[in-house]
Amino acid sequence: MRIAVCPGSFDPVTNGHLDIIARASKMFDKVIVAVLHNSSKNSLFTLEERVEMLRINCEGIGNVEVDSFSGLLIDFLKLKDAHVIIKGLRAVSDFEYEMQMALMNRKLDADIETVFMMTSSKYSYLSSSLVKEVARHKGCIHGLVPNMVEEELKKRFNI
Ligand code: PNS
Repeated sequence: MRIAVCPGSFDPVTNGHLDIIARASKMFDKVIVAVLHNSSKNSLFTLEERVEMLRINCEGIGNVEVDSFSGLLIDFLKLKDAHVIIKGLRAVSDFEYEMQMALMNRKLDADIETVFMMTSSKYSYLSSSLVKEVARHKGCIHGLVPNMVEEELKKRFNI
């Protein structure tokens, strides 16, 4: 069985993430979306909230499951018997850091491959951070995140 892991902070999940997850699900038998539990990073949503938002929005995709991890990503892959990391690339600016991480992960475990997918052009400017910034200042985020995430962001920022 070909299992791929799609890791990230997902704080919160955007339509750009969902586009990558849905497309990856067609290429692998199973895609595990892995939400990073990072205690040092100040996230807007708790780990449980981020996982729940992903679960609800991935419900329609049969071979996708959502889980969380802490520590090294390659250890999570080993635990799940997965050999592929899926990453979305939005622009050239993403490339340098992603390349660094892919090479480090390969150094840590030579059996693991990172597969890069190009984000759809309509989401190429999208990031969780920018969505949060726009929402914080009460700007319109409609169409950038799933509707239920939009509602959660509005609640957080009293819109
Ligand atoms: O959505 P993000 O914040 O860009 O995701 C980054 C993520 C979770 C993929 C990355 O920080 C990660 O893999 N963290 C786990 C720790 C780890 O394995 N570090 C070494 C990778 S080189």
